[in-house]
Amino acid sequence: MSPEIQNKQGPKQALFNNLILHLHPPKVHERTLELAHTWGLGGMPLVLVMLLTLTGILLMFVYEPSPKLAYDSIITLQEEIWFGQLIRNIHHWSGNILVIVSFLHLLRVFFTGAFQGARSFNWVIGLCLFFLVLISNFTGYLLPWDQLAFWAITICTGMLEYLPGLGLWLQNMIRGGEDVGQATLSIFFTIHVVIVPLCLFLLMPFHFWRVRKVGGVVVPRSSVNDSEEKNIYVSTVPNLVIRELVVGLVLIAFVMVFSLIFDAPLEAKANPGLSPNPTKAPWYFIGLQELFLHFHPLFAVWIIPILVVCSLIILPYLKFDSDMAGYWFHSPKGRQMGVFAVVTALVVTPLIVFISDFFVDFTAWLPRIPGFVTGGLLPLTLVLVSIIAFYIAVKKAYSASNNEAIQSVFILLLSSFVILAIIGYWFRGPGMALTWP
Ligand code: HEM
Repeated sequence: MSPEIQNKQGPKQALFNNLILHLHPPKVHERTLELAHTWGLGGMPLVLVMLLTLTGILLMFVYEPSPKLAYDSIITLQEEIWFGQLIRNIHHWSGNILVIVSFLHLLRVFFTGAFQGARSFNWVIGLCLFFLVLISNFTGYLLPWDQLAFWAITICTGMLEYLPGLGLWLQNMIRGGEDVGQATLSIFFTIHVVIVPLCLFLLMPFHFWRVRKVGGVVVPRSSVNDSEEKNIYVSTVPNLVIRELVVGLVLIAFVMVFSLIFDAPLEAKANPGLSPNPTKAPWYFIGLQELFLHFHPLFAVWIIPILVVCSLIILPYLKFDSDMAGYWFHSPKGRQMGVFAVVTALVVTPLIVFISDFFVDFTAWLPRIPGFVTGGLLPLTLVLVSIIAFYIAVKKAYSASNNEAIQSVFILLLSSFVILAIIGYWFRGPGMALTWP
């Protein structure tokens, strides 16, 4: 910023502007200010991380990270400390909303094609941030030391042992021993209050700086000829900053109201001798738990998630046949294909779950063939062949481009995963059998 402007502004405002302009470019394209372009979804995780830090510090004054005292300290907090329940609620709901909002932000970036070219590496940084958000939530899940927490973490960490050779070692390392106990709580607590926040506070500014480096968020375009429109740039302060402030305040108000109405769940104190039936993973891992019911554990816990993560990492480096940047869903055709993918997932996913639960059991039918082939390799090959067939079919049926077809496969898989999570959350009862909620 020029010294003349700084002089006119006075020292306080100059300091504020300097801070803002380290994170934002001095000018932004006018159209990037439209709410329906980003929905403010990138700024929301930052606000939530700040809320979490603030309430987390307050919780640490009361919380005791030991299996004997943790649960009682939560009860004391809720019943004896002024606003203790509210502070716990804000922390709990902010953490959950953070998972949702970061994921929606990932989708916004994907569906506006803002992950290609100069933005590719920022997509990968974003994935690391999302991973940190999940770790943060997962490690926090154990801390109240109630039945829900204890058994969810027991089954989730128990799944690790299915990695041949390394699994048991990895499980013991994360648990700090064979069972979930004092060592697990200390490890989870340290990761939750020190390691993850530190990584987030290092990685977030890097993520913002990469956005600044390419001149701000991707510029929206509503038609192919849009690039011929006039490029109007406006100054970041106050145009962008005021909008960010409004989104932040509305979000904080929403979290407050939500936390006043709904209390964070707390079940009975953890009892390692009595497992609830069914025992379910935290909601954001329930889709994976559902996969576990249909695939050999090695595939459900390791191979499929690794395939998904690798695909997400290499996504921006794939060869696309046109520049998607700025078009929501790429084109009207892309939008239609997206709807078709959602409808396909809505019909096919419950059908496959039903058939897999009641009719098809390759492992029982082919007892001489190893379980990882009949329960893993064979069904996964069938799924992959179906995905390729879907890709070819939609590309042909809609005379679609490579981008549009890849996008519809992404929507198909995403919708299927959400449907699996819904089935796991609401339609699984005792023994994880299918039930009506
Ligand atoms: C704690 C989590 C995250 C925070 C705080 C965050 C924050 C932000 C902010 C403030 C922006 C600019 C404004 C906007 O696009 O709305 C941005 C852009 C971006 N983010 Fe994130 N983000 C997070 C997670 C992610 C994830 C999970 C991804 C994807 C894997 C991602 C990929 C990107 C990309 C590629 C851009 C540039 C988009 C563009 O130029 O239009 N971010 N992020």
